[in-house]
Amino acid sequence: MPRPASRPLPIAGRVDARAVPPEPFAVTLTAPDQRSDAPTPALSPIAVAARSIRKVFGATIAVNDVSFDIHVGETHALLGENGAGKSTLVKLLSGLILPTIGSFRVFGEAALLHKPRAAHAHGIQTAFQELTMVRDLTVLDNMLLPYPPTRFGQIRRTQARRMVGEHLDAIGLPDIDLDADLRDLDLNERQKIEIARALFRRPKILLLDEPTSTLSGRDIDWLGGLIAGLKRDGVTVVFISHRMREVRAFCDRVTVLRNGKHIATERLADVADEDLIGMIAGKELGQSFPPKLPIPSIAGEPVLAAKGLATISSADVPAGAVSIASKLRTSMKTPRPCVWNSCKARPSRSPGLSSSRSGSSKWMRQGTS
Ligand SMILES: Nc1ncnc2c1ncn2[C@@H]1O[C@H](COP(=O)(O)OP(=O)(O)O)[C@@H](O)[C@H]1O
Ligand SMILES: [Mg+2]
Repeated sequence: MPRPASRPLPIAGRVDARAVPPEPFAVTLTAPDQRSDAPTPALSPIAVAARSIRKVFGATIAVNDVSFDIHVGETHALLGENGAGKSTLVKLLSGLILPTIGSFRVFGEAALLHKPRAAHAHGIQTAFQELTMVRDLTVLDNMLLPYPPTRFGQIRRTQARRMVGEHLDAIGLPDIDLDADLRDLDLNERQKIEIARALFRRPKILLLDEPTSTLSGRDIDWLGGLIAGLKRDGVTVVFISHRMREVRAFCDRVTVLRNGKHIATERLADVADEDLIGMIAGKELGQSFPPKLPIPSIAGEPVLAAKGLATISSADVPAGAVSIASKLRTSMKTPRPCVWNSCKARPSRSPGLSSSRSGSSKWMRQGTS
């Protein structure tokens, strides 16, 4: 149920109703020319300067001597394979963890980002990859975390409610019920609220760690509209995604990380997708995708044939199949072992498979280990 229209307040973040186009927030997700002959525009002042940042977790060097600049008002993509160090950089900039070595400057000032409040004080807000909201609280309570507006220790709840409602309206989320428990919302709604909460604090620098991994279609357009509005307001955005189309549609420049190391920082218009993919993977495309060798075959002759497959009782399992079938039964608690069909017919309540997000590869590992 949409909230009744209300007068916008300045609290509605830097994305106000005028800056964000009305729904459907259409953003063209067509990739622009990958290379441009246009002269390189002059870069604005530096919002974030990372200098020789290293972060070590035990034996893992998550970020290895990384230096790069993010300029004011740009949308800057951070690209890299899983484990490249992107989220670690986001956590360092958010004040969740401290660098082992190295320093940040934010808007020209040396910034000790030793706690989230310190990052907030520099205008940095984050929508994290592992959503950070509390499942047992309502949308409203989550939006007010970690520090709600207070007066003499009391939350001025009515005012807070109005501010949050108007903020959600202004960023195109009028249908979100402030009183809904977070646990009852879909993952994509929770992701949007995580983003909305970061915007509620009026960031000068917004960090978005893989926001689109749980969004699709219209919601990605929604995010594109938000980013366009933020850009018009001069907000600096760091955007992490594995989807090149979004990166090209939303971002101006890109930094590539590989195995924790800085590989390149480029204007997106100056670099082709193949080059980016090469930098991310650390090899030429030909190495990643070697030409397939022709498979010798005799035309018309089947390579595998199966006849008369059926679900069978344990008494019918041939000697060689018993151990596999019984392991499947033990781990899956199936009423009876099946051969072949068991791989498709998943038990509805097997241990460790709490949701459909558990992939079949996990299931296979569990079933056969
Ligand atoms: N808290 C941690 N403890 C130990 N290792 C970690 C921790 N956080 C990240 N790492 C490791 O650091 C590397 C970089 O991780 P991360 O920054 O999450 O990569 P990305 O976000 O690019 O996928 C990975 O090898 C990861 O396993
Ligand atoms: Mg990550």
